[in-house]
Amino acid sequence: MTTLKSADSVNMFPPDFVWGVATSSFQIEGAAVKDGKGASIWDEFCRVHGAIADASNGDIACDHYHRWAEDLDLIAGLGVGAYRFSVSWPRVRPGGAGAWNEKGLAFYEGIVDGLLERGVKPYLTLNHWDLPAELQADGGWAHRDTVHRFVEYACGMAARLGDRVASITTHNEPWVMAMLGHETGTFAPGIKNRKSAMQASHHLLLSHGLALQAMRAQACAARLGVVLNVAPIQPATESAADQAKAQLEDGRLVRWYMDPLFKAAYPPDVLDFLGADAPDVQAGDLQAIATRMDFLGINYYSRSVVSAAEEWDVHDSGYGITDMGWEIYPRGLTDVLLRLQRDYAVPPLYVTENGGAFKDALADGRVNDSERTDYIARHIDAVSEAIRQGVRMKGYMVWSLLDNFEWASGYEKRFGIVHVDYETQRRTLKDSALWYRDFMRRQKALTTQRELLGSGA
Ligand code: FCB
Repeated sequence: MTTLKSADSVNMFPPDFVWGVATSSFQIEGAAVKDGKGASIWDEFCRVHGAIADASNGDIACDHYHRWAEDLDLIAGLGVGAYRFSVSWPRVRPGGAGAWNEKGLAFYEGIVDGLLERGVKPYLTLNHWDLPAELQADGGWAHRDTVHRFVEYACGMAARLGDRVASITTHNEPWVMAMLGHETGTFAPGIKNRKSAMQASHHLLLSHGLALQAMRAQACAARLGVVLNVAPIQPATESAADQAKAQLEDGRLVRWYMDPLFKAAYPPDVLDFLGADAPDVQAGDLQAIATRMDFLGINYYSRSVVSAAEEWDVHDSGYGITDMGWEIYPRGLTDVLLRLQRDYAVPPLYVTENGGAFKDALADGRVNDSERTDYIARHIDAVSEAIRQGVRMKGYMVWSLLDNFEWASGYEKRFGIVHVDYETQRRTLKDSALWYRDFMRRQKALTTQRELLGSGA
């Protein structure tokens, strides 16, 4: 076991810095057809032969739909300040248009009120990938009408819950939905077409901007933003070919989203690369995409080292590789945060996801997951280093509260700080959860101490 580095006495987090845990609807809720819920593209994708590693689906998942109150107690028991979760669009508005489903809305209202009663701030995400299946039948994110359906959905949720949630995120990781969903086809909806992927990315961005404008027009009190997955992309060698490849991958992953959001333009080098696969963009779209945000969420897991010869080569910088095959590279988190604030006029930043999958063993009611604790502690240190260097950070959230349905990997990969026994649905706090709980307690004590000193008490 490696020794933990996180020395909270030297980590200076601002007093309003929020510590949290994150989940998403499809990955934990189950109850796939309960109380009027419609099908999502992930319900359908799970039925495709070979799409999910263990041939599983989200029908039951962590059964959170029935166990939410107990799960909220678990969250409150950890002492987190924030819980990031997502709403299943087909649960609240089956089919994505037409009548709303009151039972679905009541479910999320229960969660929001239950969090507030427990002193935990709700951070709501509208789209964590589970698009209503009927909208996919009409063309999904590659079809412009979906933009307008999403804006209606955002307005409906903001009207119902916008007065009580701390924040509303439009989309989680548009790159994943566009690229893995439409170019490689490894995620729902399983399309393999670059033009569709780029059109989907444009519609995701456009719907984000228009939804922000519409929610603000109805005086939504919650802070509004988007969550992007970012990583430093480094060339494997100094060769011109490797550097060009890294530059292009950075363009497709980071600048393709950050440039329109903050500069109202797509990066010219990526447009050149795309040629006829570039998305159709209408007059005014880019200005809408660049609508001011209140925060930007960053999901960080690893870096990418790329070479012109082979793609996504995994390096090991000495911290190891997770069960997903992702290199552990905490420094990259400091680097990307600094880079985003340097290159763009960003609002306050949150790390909205960070964590690792490891092979956990439950023995005598305990999971000794020191690798996960080490992963989290080192990345928290990386955040504190970014703050020390001047990045305006507002929070950090661990992915994930619970072991859950890890998309195409099914239930084989465990990201939770809480172990889930899928046979019994029993939850067990892993050692990493106990560590995180104690870490947050110490942080709280430090903040109180500083406030007392500051007030001269
Ligand atoms: C992110 C997703 C999240 C989870 C983690 C491991 O890309 O947002 O749902 O699957 O990866």
